[in-house]
Amino acid sequence: MSLKKINKSDILKIYEREQDYLLKAVKKAKNPYHIFSLSTINNHHPESRIVVLRNVQINPLKLYFNSDIRSPKFVQLKKDRVCSALFYDQIRKVQLRFKCEVNIHYDNDISKIAWNKTALQSRKCYMAPFNPSSRIESWHPNIPIDCIDRDPTLDESNLGYNNFMHIELSIIKADILELHYDGHIRFEVLENNEINFLSA
Ligand SMILES: Cc1cc2nc3c(=O)[nH]c(=O)nc-3n(C[C@H](O)[C@H](O)[C@H](O)COP(=O)(O)O)c2cc1C
Repeated sequence: MSLKKINKSDILKIYEREQDYLLKAVKKAKNPYHIFSLSTINNHHPESRIVVLRNVQINPLKLYFNSDIRSPKFVQLKKDRVCSALFYDQIRKVQLRFKCEVNIHYDNDISKIAWNKTALQSRKCYMAPFNPSSRIESWHPNIPIDCIDRDPTLDESNLGYNNFMHIELSIIKADILELHYDGHIRFEVLENNEINFLSA
């Protein structure tokens, strides 16, 4: 059986293709890259959770997501401004792992643009009476009770902006793995665009 030939221009093309998938995933909820696992550092322990990919910029690659500034991840990201972002496309069998530096946008021009893109329905979460992830005596939906079966009005929803943050992830290193029965393809892309094969 002949061995397939993979050269650097092939892996560069794979990287460009995956960045394109990321771009498309922002608006497509069914795209597997629409959500990703974000790992932060909490007192020397890794902590992971799923977040929604809200924006992507290319050259240099940056990823963005939204969150509540009252959540523990804010404290973690403020203290240790690094994180790992992990994506997996189960159909195409491609994993993307990004080593990232964090920039938090709160009540600035960038967070305002991101806030204006949020749906009224999603703004309910930012109007939560309890700090996200806090212990509560008994179950509570943690959205304003009078909004339980309706969207907030635009005026009401703007209260949520006080709790809204938009997080920018600058990619320090990308680690791409594509699974194949005849040999996986794995490589890294560094900040200076250096690209290296990695053993799978
Ligand atoms: C499909 C899905 C999408 C989510 N998207 C977000 C998100 O974009 N931002 C966010 O802060 N939390 C999101 N969450 C909730 C987080 O996974 C997590 O439960 C919560 O943010 C925990 O916060 P902490 O890690 O700060 O304690 C999502 C959860 C699921 C299941």
